[in-house]
Amino acid sequence: MSRAQKTPLSLVRMKGKGRKIAMLTAYDYPTAQILGEADVDAILVGDTLGMVVLGHETTLPVTVDDVIRAAASVRRARPQALVIGDLPFLSYTVSVSEAVRNAGRMVKEAGVGAVKLEGGRAMLPVVRALVRASIPVMGHLGLTPQSILRFGGYKVQAKNPRAANRLIEAAKALEEAGCFAVVLEAIPADVAARVTEALSIPTIGIGAGPDCDGQVLVTHDMLGIYDDFTPKFVKRYAELRETMREAFAAYIKEVKDGTFPGPEHCYDSDPKDK
Ligand code: KIV
Repeated sequence: MSRAQKTPLSLVRMKGKGRKIAMLTAYDYPTAQILGEADVDAILVGDTLGMVVLGHETTLPVTVDDVIRAAASVRRARPQALVIGDLPFLSYTVSVSEAVRNAGRMVKEAGVGAVKLEGGRAMLPVVRALVRASIPVMGHLGLTPQSILRFGGYKVQAKNPRAANRLIEAAKALEEAGCFAVVLEAIPADVAARVTEALSIPTIGIGAGPDCDGQVLVTHDMLGIYDDFTPKFVKRYAELRETMREAFAAYIKEVKDGTFPGPEHCYDSDPKDK
């Protein structure tokens, strides 16, 4: 049975029907193909690309071109999932017009169905301008990794009542400005539940407890590939780093002892052997 292409509106409707939204990250064609086969609802081409693929210590060095190239490869897998391009550090905060231009490039050059940006009230003019330009926007509140220098580390946010109320008000303002969903990262579960209750657009949690309308994890974390830093909220569904290390070691051994390549991997002079 062919499934329908997911859109921002599909995710909003899922919340209305009480159906949970599953989102994961991807930065390349084969991963996006496999996520499509697994029927994920949304694929985030996150700026975590900078850490889990490019090996930077933070997401700050990621460029718009990095995300566009990755998102274009994800789109070439033609997943039915909604593909969301993450706006990297400084690509939407210098000016509203630059934000529209950079988000527009993600739509035009990579074919994303939406963009994501980090931040609360200060981002409202940007969100409004993007929505006016017909670019759907996902918000991101709580631990926003592009603010790592200001936060002084990856710390749980909204832990006191004042900060929690501020976050809830910011989420409501993002909805009013036109966001179709909001990521909530590393906040207490009860605060995330209050945000989820207060909004009619879906909340997508990462380290925000079970009451969000959906969940997102970084694929390289949940597959056990990325090992530099594993937050408490990550559940590992596989240990692919181990599997890959074993495969590499087996190949190296067989090359060294001459058992690879075997006859089944070799061509002969028969013209029919292709
Ligand atoms: O860049 C990313 O992958 C993200 C997720 C952690 C939500 O923003």
